[in-house]
Amino acid sequence: ERQRHIRNFSIIAHIDHGKSTLADRILEMTDTIAKRDMQAQVLDDMALERERGITIKLNAVELHYKAKDGQTYIFHLIDTPGHVDFTYEVSRSLAACEGALLVVDAAQGVEAQTLANVYLAVDDDLEIVPVINKIDLPSAQPDVVKEEIEEMIGLDGDDAILASAKAGIGIEEILERVVSDIPAPKGDVEAPLKALIFDSVYDSYRGVVLNVRIEEGAVQVGDMIELMSNGKKFEVTEVGVMSPKAVKRDYLMAGDVGYITASIKTIQDTRVGDTVTNADRPAEKALEGYRKITPMVYAGVFPTDNAKFNDLRDALEKLQLNDAALEFEPETSKALGFGFRCGFLGLLHMDVVQERLEREFNLDLIMTAPSVDYHVKKTDGTEITVENPAEMPDVSEIREISEPYVKANIMVPNDYVGPVMELAQRKRGEFVTMDYLDKYRVNVIYNLPLSEIIYDFFDDLKSNTKGYASLDYEITGYRPSDLVKMDILLNGDPVDALSTIVHKEFAYDRGRGVVSKLKETIPRQNFEVPIQAAIGTKIISRATIRAYRKDVTARIHTGDPDRRAKLLDKQKRGKKRMKAVGSVEVPQEAFMSLLEVN
Ligand code: GTP
Repeated sequence: ERQRHIRNFSIIAHIDHGKSTLADRILEMTDTIAKRDMQAQVLDDMALERERGITIKLNAVELHYKAKDGQTYIFHLIDTPGHVDFTYEVSRSLAACEGALLVVDAAQGVEAQTLANVYLAVDDDLEIVPVINKIDLPSAQPDVVKEEIEEMIGLDGDDAILASAKAGIGIEEILERVVSDIPAPKGDVEAPLKALIFDSVYDSYRGVVLNVRIEEGAVQVGDMIELMSNGKKFEVTEVGVMSPKAVKRDYLMAGDVGYITASIKTIQDTRVGDTVTNADRPAEKALEGYRKITPMVYAGVFPTDNAKFNDLRDALEKLQLNDAALEFEPETSKALGFGFRCGFLGLLHMDVVQERLEREFNLDLIMTAPSVDYHVKKTDGTEITVENPAEMPDVSEIREISEPYVKANIMVPNDYVGPVMELAQRKRGEFVTMDYLDKYRVNVIYNLPLSEIIYDFFDDLKSNTKGYASLDYEITGYRPSDLVKMDILLNGDPVDALSTIVHKEFAYDRGRGVVSKLKETIPRQNFEVPIQAAIGTKIISRATIRAYRKDVTARIHTGDPDRRAKLLDKQKRGKKRMKAVGSVEVPQEAFMSLLEVN
């Protein structure tokens, strides 16, 4: 009976189309949060999410809605991120839902991630309710967007709700449609427990907190639960829901979305996608779980202070609990000491992990420039995968290097097709085809090396199209390319953490670019430092950082004290992120300068 009144749904959208704002309005309308406690984007509770105005982690809240039919419904709303790096979070939250609100910006229309997210929802057999948001904007074109919804997505455009999350228009209609269009969950309450872990976080008091969708059966405090992937058993200490703060409950049953704690202290035991069952009355088969996600880019992460290596391991383990896409294994660098080679889904993901490590775990880190992984056929007939440029075998041992390629869908207004093609060509792209989406827009498809698009392709794309282009891509496989390893030598010593793999055709330009960038970013030392770029034993570019003569702070003795304090502070902060490489102090930016050159 209770189950009939449950609705589990997500909001999916292209980035910035207003998902989080709509979630805020829904929380307000259902009095889940008193007006006075309302801050913008309540569900984005990570400090990082607020600052950047993006959703990174999924969040689930329970809310109560008194519908026009007089009945009260229990909604579990699961917020999802919109950026392409975080698609895996989206697919995880969708697995816990029966339906989704599809938010489309009335001015921007259907974008690349709108489609990508729709495909995920369709894969999971979700009921999709289209919402055209931002109709308050003067540039809104709801009729055009309705057409796009029909043509590109195949949903009835007239079915779309016209709304403004900002101005609070259409919110009640959205809630009513959740009740009428999205099916109630169906799981059997009497069956043995089957709960899908879709997220988990570590809490130093309660241990691992499992966020679950109960598919079948029920769970309450005192039950013995079992994790089906490894047979580990725990006694349940608390169950509850997020509303949006944790609220304890007596039990959770089929259809519910909530949390379970069971004094789980070993992080390694829990894995998102695993099934929780009852130890005394176990389910026969585990739920399907999630497909494994493979990282696309790899980078070295090193503590600036070598003594913090174990703290870094501990922090990575805790983050991984909450971020299933993060991979890491120990790495030793001659230049940087002991650290980890980490795998990420993209640069934004990498950035987020770095910031979380520094903020939530108070670590000072040096990250090396990210790299994709290469498949290398050796002359001895063996084949290896190289995730770290420093580990690329000697040229004499290499028969062929292959790099990952993606198929990129670039949606863009007609007028910008030229600049998009120019950019893609410059990035070694291979034109595949071009489809007209409607009168105004085309989908340009290119095969591109992943290494060319992970860095600044998206930024370039945006600036070449006045922000109109949107991008989505998927890895299609590996292709042989004419690649070489480029080493950087500081003071005559090769610095392994600065090695990169480059295309032969661009090697000289890149070498020159990197050397001059390093010359800018590495501060003067009290001796002269030569910088060289080399391919094998051949030096392709060089520059010299001259020795400094006097203390730079001495120059700012006059002027206003505020400015002086600021400068000193800046230097101090800069200093923290330095690492002695041999005899040379190298700042974090220097490692990233490899990215800024092309
Ligand atoms: P991610 O969480 O990063 O995926 O973005 P999002 O889809 O959650 O978008 P968000 O809610 O952060 O909104 C993006 C921007 O659009 C913000 O500046 C909002 O204030 C604005 N916005 C959201 N809804 C409306 C609306 O109905 N009208 C107008 N004019 N602006 C809106």
